[in-house]
Amino acid sequence: MFRNCDRVWINANVATFDTDNSAAYGALSHQAVGVAGDRIQAIAPMTAFDASGIAAEIIDAQGRWLTPGLIDAHTHLVFAGNRAREFELRLQGASYEEISRQGGGILSTVKATRAASVDKLVALAVPRLEALLREGVTSVEIKSGYGLDLVSELNMLRAARALGERYPVRVSTSLLAAHALPPEFADDAEGYIDLVCNEIIPAAVAEGLADAVDVFCETIAFSPAQCERVFQAAQTHGLGIRAHVEQLSDQQGAALAARYGAWSVDHLEWLDEAGIQAMAEAGTVATLLPGAFYFLRETRLPPIDLLRQHRVPMAVATDLNPGSSPLASLRLALNMACTLFRLTPEEALAGVTRNAARALGLGHTLGQIKPGMQADMLLWDIEHPAELAYQFGVNPIKQRIVGGEVGNV
Ligand code: NIG
Ligand code: FE
Repeated sequence: MFRNCDRVWINANVATFDTDNSAAYGALSHQAVGVAGDRIQAIAPMTAFDASGIAAEIIDAQGRWLTPGLIDAHTHLVFAGNRAREFELRLQGASYEEISRQGGGILSTVKATRAASVDKLVALAVPRLEALLREGVTSVEIKSGYGLDLVSELNMLRAARALGERYPVRVSTSLLAAHALPPEFADDAEGYIDLVCNEIIPAAVAEGLADAVDVFCETIAFSPAQCERVFQAAQTHGLGIRAHVEQLSDQQGAALAARYGAWSVDHLEWLDEAGIQAMAEAGTVATLLPGAFYFLRETRLPPIDLLRQHRVPMAVATDLNPGSSPLASLRLALNMACTLFRLTPEEALAGVTRNAARALGLGHTLGQIKPGMQADMLLWDIEHPAELAYQFGVNPIKQRIVGGEVGNV
């Protein structure tokens, strides 16, 4: 079993998050975990492990915990500009919607992002990405959505891909051209959706820049009918589907996206039971974003109990963005998911591993420690996995393993 391995961790406690293991955290104690190439090859109790005749590098975990690498399944980490002034205005009483209606908010980031080159976008994103990686992120989703024209949207995705080439992290990209209405189309939302469907999506696909589309379905953004047109274009081009829905009001966006087989719908504070049913039927993940809930001082909680009842998989992500969640810490998002949304630490951790992988359409290869899966793992100096959701600001990572390679950020 371990004969073909390149590397074997011995004496490890393993939080596998394996769907076939019903123990809490999918935990297995005192294990050997072997990787061959970029895949997990074998996992067995130490009592069944014999090192003789094995050429692999042996790493003694000394009772530490292995978990799957953390996956941040919703970020907007490529952008230019700064929204600290808007933060000040909100502290004086202005709401996110008011600022957005007055041309601030997303559009102020659009202005700065359009003016930046791809290299500049990469350079600005580096400290954000590095902060995530230091805390154990091995996969990250990055959206466009601050370009809102053909060239600038593609440039954001090019920057995202460049980050994935430069750093030991898997980058999934989502084309979020339908994020806000650009000023050039102020009175012509349908015309802008034409541009998104007929030009921006095909160009992104031709360059291999997008894995999925995303939309912002909201009164201050796009209607369900407009979002539906984007989903249809995505289907035509073989892209995954994701959506920002039910963040500030109930537009029935989750049910719509689920009908199109969405990988994930995100935010969900206003989600109703019909939407949850549609998600359960389609296998759509509910991605919870406690950072945005916290930063916008929302009071309406996502319907966690109903999501549990309908067995909808829940993911947890940072939503790292300049306006509603300037949060470059998935560990803090884990804690917020527990303190603000009352997820259990096990649910929160499943939300940044197994379920986050599903939200990226990668559930079959990522997010669990079991043979055949990508060997993305973290070795933590902890006594119990719940510590990862309990404490923040302290970083107990001992090793970061991506595609079977041990490395630092
Ligand atoms: O996920 N909801 C819409 N988009 C972002 C916020 C973007 C911004 O304010 O710049 C979000 O919260
Ligand atoms: Fe977002």
